[in-house]
Amino acid sequence: MFIVFEGIDGSGKTTQSKLLAKKMDAFWTYEPSNSLVGKIIREILSGKTEVDNKTLALLFAADRIEHTKLIKEELKKRDVVCDRYLYSSIAYQSVAGVDENFIKSINRYALKPDIVFLLIVDIETALKRVKTKDIFEKKDFLKKVQDKYLELAEEYNFIVIDTTKKSVEEVHNEIIGYLKNIPH
Ligand code: TMP
Repeated sequence: MFIVFEGIDGSGKTTQSKLLAKKMDAFWTYEPSNSLVGKIIREILSGKTEVDNKTLALLFAADRIEHTKLIKEELKKRDVVCDRYLYSSIAYQSVAGVDENFIKSINRYALKPDIVFLLIVDIETALKRVKTKDIFEKKDFLKKVQDKYLELAEEYNFIVIDTTKKSVEEVHNEIIGYLKNIPH
């Protein structure tokens, strides 16, 4: 199974994806990945270098092509749990002003996950939870990204979990509960 976690930073997706991977004995991975392109992306996200938003969208798509090869290899052996994937690009880059059809088109080689968990959170709580801020870590922007994610949740059937007032354990148990009810 290929399981993806999406959400704004501070939603708990990294903690939860790691916990689930451990529980399932799955391979845990993340985007932007640690490929060469991923490293360039992190430099841009830190604000050190500025590029056009379309360029950044292309870099995320390029990183994803490389990363998807690794995911496919791992899927031959075990389940894969991924912290961010295609939907991060659709949400963040479209809110940043890039045409959604362009984003979908350059990501046409992405895998279709079996399950996507979208973790949502009150924006104030998210900002309090996040320690290192990148170029997207601004209240109004994150609100728009979360709204876009919720729109995508309907289009792609995500499982949506609000983590605002829940403990790590409560959210984890909710996730396990959903997985138990999914035939595979
Ligand atoms: P992270 O904080 O989860 O490591 O993600 C890094 C940032 O990159 C975060 O602000 C979301 C952003 N991002 C995109 O804008 N598009 C993408 O396709 C991905 C994977 C991440």
